[in-house]
Amino acid sequence: MSADVILGAQWGDEGKGKIVDLLSEGYDVIVRYQGGANAGHTVIVGNEKYVMHLLPSGVLRKGVVNIIGHGVVLDMGSLVEEMEGLKKRGINITPASLKISENAAIVLPYHKIMDKAKESKKAGKKIGTTGRGIGPCYTDKYVRTGVRLRDIYNDEILKAKVAENLEEKNFLLKNLYGEKEVSAAAVIAEAKKYGKILKPYVCDTINEVNDLLKKGKKILFEGAQGALLDIDFGTYPYVTSSNPTIGGVMTGSGASHKYSKKVRGITKAYQTRVGNGPFPTEMDEVNGERTRQKGGEFGATTGRPRRCGWLDLVALKYVCDLNGLTDILLTKIDVLSIFDELKVCTHYMYKGKKSDRFIPDGEELYKVKPVYKIFKGWGTDLTAVRSMKQMPKEAKTYIKFIEKYTGVKVSMVSVGPERDQILKKPPRNTDAMIRLADSVMYDVKKSGKNRIQYIVSIGDE
Ligand code: GDP
Ligand code: IMO
Ligand code: MG
Repeated sequence: MSADVILGAQWGDEGKGKIVDLLSEGYDVIVRYQGGANAGHTVIVGNEKYVMHLLPSGVLRKGVVNIIGHGVVLDMGSLVEEMEGLKKRGINITPASLKISENAAIVLPYHKIMDKAKESKKAGKKIGTTGRGIGPCYTDKYVRTGVRLRDIYNDEILKAKVAENLEEKNFLLKNLYGEKEVSAAAVIAEAKKYGKILKPYVCDTINEVNDLLKKGKKILFEGAQGALLDIDFGTYPYVTSSNPTIGGVMTGSGASHKYSKKVRGITKAYQTRVGNGPFPTEMDEVNGERTRQKGGEFGATTGRPRRCGWLDLVALKYVCDLNGLTDILLTKIDVLSIFDELKVCTHYMYKGKKSDRFIPDGEELYKVKPVYKIFKGWGTDLTAVRSMKQMPKEAKTYIKFIEKYTGVKVSMVSVGPERDQILKKPPRNTDAMIRLADSVMYDVKKSGKNRIQYIVSIGDE
């Protein structure tokens, strides 16, 4: 039994959808634990492109159970639309393949209105949110006035909660933001309409997840957003309102920590960011545009152009340490084929000193200047590469440097959006294997019986 985690190691859009879909073949259950419909996880299967916002990226695999944990903020209308969209394409979601936490906080229409109104009122320092109501919904959750999915099925509670919330929201909408007031009856009617459709999927996912683990099922947790957008560990205030990092797995799903095995961070071979906030390694306009075009760097949820930059190893090392990453899955290395020379940030100049420490603050991080190490590009297309043997030596050097700097192995390298465009590297931590082989040999020698012959094959190079 095991509970492995996939989380974004940058500012989101690292390719989590592709990797989760790929790995979901080997898991019984996929769980989303935080975020909401601000996520856009792309999965490409042949000529078909799917973008998941709330549904876990395991929904395309038959037999996989998908769970939306209570840490997710649930936009019921968006979820129903996603499910109907998949149904039209022949993918049927059933209560056996999807379970939604009855404790998930519900995104209501006024959250989305507040999100957009708050942003447009801000003078200089807009966050650049997705407008999906994420911040306002989590706000209500934490001030303990939030509407939970279970409340939709209790008329009295629903009415009281919506009334309590609208008293405050309507005051702000009218007097502070100059927006129209929201009608309680309309909010309730819409919530009940979607609630009815979703009812068969609603359950106690906290006990469900632990029961599944106890039964020996393999669970993969699918993070949304990325560690640098984490409300506690990211570039606050230019962050989202949840914990995409490892702690969010436990608080957002209820799974016990004792089953956790692999914590895998997905990182692009370069860096992107949508929305505002500091970005020390942001490329100049020319290189940024080339990367955007080559990598198709446009938001999967909002369609906004993504800002592009060079790989920031100071930030990546911070994310590795913070999450105890067991391995790194490196995506989109094929995109870097356009460059003759690549820059990788190894240090920041901060307050006149060279430092290799990340600064988890959205204002201070503006003050750093990146220090780069330059790598030679490989100049060849990597999209048909399927093993490390076929990888050009410059690309191998680039990958090895990431491993050396972070101290974390790169166990998979993705060279394109499709399922088969992946290289799985064999275990690199050979020391443990050698120690094991040595101790077995010692035991064999000691017992005087030479009955075992070991061939230890390490690596593919
Ligand atoms: P997510 O939010 O982390 O799931 O990432 P997105 O789906 O928002 O953005 C990643 C984009 O890169 C999608 O369009 C993927 O199809 C695409 N993609 C994923 N892996 C690779 C890769 O290795 N190479 C290229 N060229 N594209 C990739
Ligand atoms: P996936 O799961 C990239 C960004 C927004 C904004 C900030 C706050 O696809 O990687 P929010 O709407 O959450 O209040 O916006 O966070 N953001 C993302 N950026 N990928 C995402 O999700 C994101 N979800 C939110 O652009 O800067
Ligand atoms: Mg995305």
